[in-house]
Amino acid sequence: MAGTAQAAQDEGLNIVTFHRLAAFIYEYSGIKMPPSKITMLEGRLRRRLRATGLSNFEEYCDHLFDKDGEGELVNFIDAVTTNKTDFFREPRHFDVMQGPVLSDLADRGHREIRAWSSACSTGAEPYTMAMILEEAVARRDIDSYAILATDLSSDVLQQAHRAVYDAQFLDPVPQDLASKYLMQPLARHRTEMRVSPKLRRRVSFARLNLMDESYPVGDAMHMIFCRNVLIYFDKQTQRKVLSRLCECLLPGGFLFIGHSESIVGLDLPVRQVANTVFVKD
Ligand SMILES: C[S@@+](CC[C@H](N)C(=O)[O-])C[C@H]1O[C@@H](n2cnc3c(N)ncnc32)[C@H](O)[C@@H]1O
Repeated sequence: MAGTAQAAQDEGLNIVTFHRLAAFIYEYSGIKMPPSKITMLEGRLRRRLRATGLSNFEEYCDHLFDKDGEGELVNFIDAVTTNKTDFFREPRHFDVMQGPVLSDLADRGHREIRAWSSACSTGAEPYTMAMILEEAVARRDIDSYAILATDLSSDVLQQAHRAVYDAQFLDPVPQDLASKYLMQPLARHRTEMRVSPKLRRRVSFARLNLMDESYPVGDAMHMIFCRNVLIYFDKQTQRKVLSRLCECLLPGGFLFIGHSESIVGLDLPVRQVANTVFVKD
């Protein structure tokens, strides 16, 4: 009995190892990991412990920081990132995008739109943007568009690239857009649907860490979405990330952040045009 209890205790994530991992997560990804998250982190890493065949979290931590453990970094990051997302999440943003944002850009002669989803998770955000932009092309409000979608997690990028989603997850897509831009399942019993090739062709995916010193995204963007990732960062990191994102925006380009996020006190070269939507001066 005592031996079993000892074994169970050995398997737990102790506070010293937690601090080692938390410091690394913060430095590498910017994600804050206060001690209140110890149970969450333990839960998320338990699968990695089993997959690596290591017997406790101390060994796992040593392996991760060892030169031979570099391959584990990708799995570790996949495990620690929170990837919750939805199609048409925070739908007001997409009303603002297809209304005032696109008409303002078109009025200023921008008809070939470059947009960036900078923490794209499994792809719901960039494909929602693609539906809005494809509709704008059909109405001849713009001529064409290209979307860059990036994230830190390789696993979500793979899922996003595949673009196959459960029907329930696709519920928020309005019926008229679903009939145009989602492919019906081939087999009757399947409930999964894939985003149409027409949209997929317009979205390119890449791994990009928002903690990097610069963002090699090519020509400046007409709009950047950075939603529901800033909440994981402290103020100092938010300022650095948003300043770099602003450098990637055209003057007159638009920045969208999550509804629960704020830029107050960050001293950025933007002014608010709608709730959590900003234009670069
Ligand atoms: C909660 S999801 C938000 C997805 C989408 N933007 C939305 O609002 O639905 C947060 C995403 O940020 C990504 N992320 C976390 N830290 C990051 C970093 N340092 N660089 C890039 N992406 C990061 C995570 O992998 C995750 O997919």
